[in-house]
Amino acid sequence: MKADLILKNIGKLVTMQGSSSFRIKEEMNKINIIENAYIAVKNGKILAIGVGEHFGNLCGEDTKIHDAEGLLVTPGLIDSHTHLIHGGSRENEFSMKLNGVPYIEILNNGGGILSTVKSTKEASEEELYKKAKKSLDRMLEFGVTTVEEKSGYGLELNTEVKQLEVARVLDQNHPVDLVHTFLGAHAVPVEYKDNHKAYIDILVDVMMPKIKDMGLAEFCDVFCEEGVFTIEESEYILQKAKEMGYKLKIHADEIESLGGAELAAKLGCVSADHLMAASDEGIKMMAQNNVVANILPATSFNLNKDYADCRKMIDMGAIVSLSSDYNPGSCPSENLQLVMQLGCLHLKMTPNEVLTAVTINAAYAIDRADIIGSIEVGKKADFVVFDAPNIEYLMYHFGINHTKKVYKSGKLVV
Ligand code: NIG
Ligand code: FE
Repeated sequence: MKADLILKNIGKLVTMQGSSSFRIKEEMNKINIIENAYIAVKNGKILAIGVGEHFGNLCGEDTKIHDAEGLLVTPGLIDSHTHLIHGGSRENEFSMKLNGVPYIEILNNGGGILSTVKSTKEASEEELYKKAKKSLDRMLEFGVTTVEEKSGYGLELNTEVKQLEVARVLDQNHPVDLVHTFLGAHAVPVEYKDNHKAYIDILVDVMMPKIKDMGLAEFCDVFCEEGVFTIEESEYILQKAKEMGYKLKIHADEIESLGGAELAAKLGCVSADHLMAASDEGIKMMAQNNVVANILPATSFNLNKDYADCRKMIDMGAIVSLSSDYNPGSCPSENLQLVMQLGCLHLKMTPNEVLTAVTINAAYAIDRADIIGSIEVGKKADFVVFDAPNIEYLMYHFGINHTKKVYKSGKLVV
């Protein structure tokens, strides 16, 4: 078979080959590097990987040859936790935050998530689309080829559907692939402040079945936190979601240690995210049940809060992934390379562990490890050429964009 495209002269090709679906403990360091490599692509997928220029038999009349100029190539990066689609911005809360007003206090006074709910309701589909596209373009420029996106700024059916519809169209039109999550349980709407049960009934009886029927979301997520949804409420919502055929995610133990990690293990969530306050027992249970610990260090950075104890999680055998949490309140940045740098600087992960956490383990966090997350024959031809000589340089030289070229499904898109 002849290739559509061959990328040759790759100085260091990080393949992430050789583990079936995720990496834990020491395996996180074994990223598999081939020097002086090439990648051959056919119909958007990896056709072959090899060394030097021994690809003559893959070359036909129409095969394009691109030169990686001896640089570093990795699998396309995966951002497995974002709140991509929303209206407005919240810089008006910045000085309050800088003066130490807690995130949850701002929310409970009608600001925070609830203020973005208002802006998202007011925004037209076109406005939401334009804003999200700009962010998605930025993510792609940073080397991100797949993004998970959550609703959760409607808290009623029409606006939740509006967010997810915008995401669906964006997914069709944009090179980046999107994975969709319903997060109707992101906050309790003001009018249900004293009657959570009434809102949860609407969520479970009306919104979740409708969104499932419309095929708008694959995952269901809950913000389980003191002052938002309790453990019991989260368990009820996620259990119902599971029965409806959703895969599960949970914002767990971000601020208070409520037992979100334990709940994620009990319900078989695909990932539990944040986990700055997770208990050792919870992490152990997650590791035993293959629930991904999805860590969001740029949120800790932006909120000036504690970082999750990632070293301990890796030692305990947890499947660790890293993602941006891009959203207008706790992490207004699309920069996954910054997240990776924080992974080294604040989570004390090695550069290899970090790369694992934003490729194969991130793919597992969105249940896509069979098709993306590593450069292997048959997987999607998603890869990034970095203007860097090695992986250490990517994490060491911080605060800039190292991307030189991005290939999505075998096409040069940046
Ligand atoms: O993951 N923690 C809850 N939700 C988001 C923040 C959303 C917002 O503040 O708008 C998060 O950090
Ligand atoms: Fe989040």
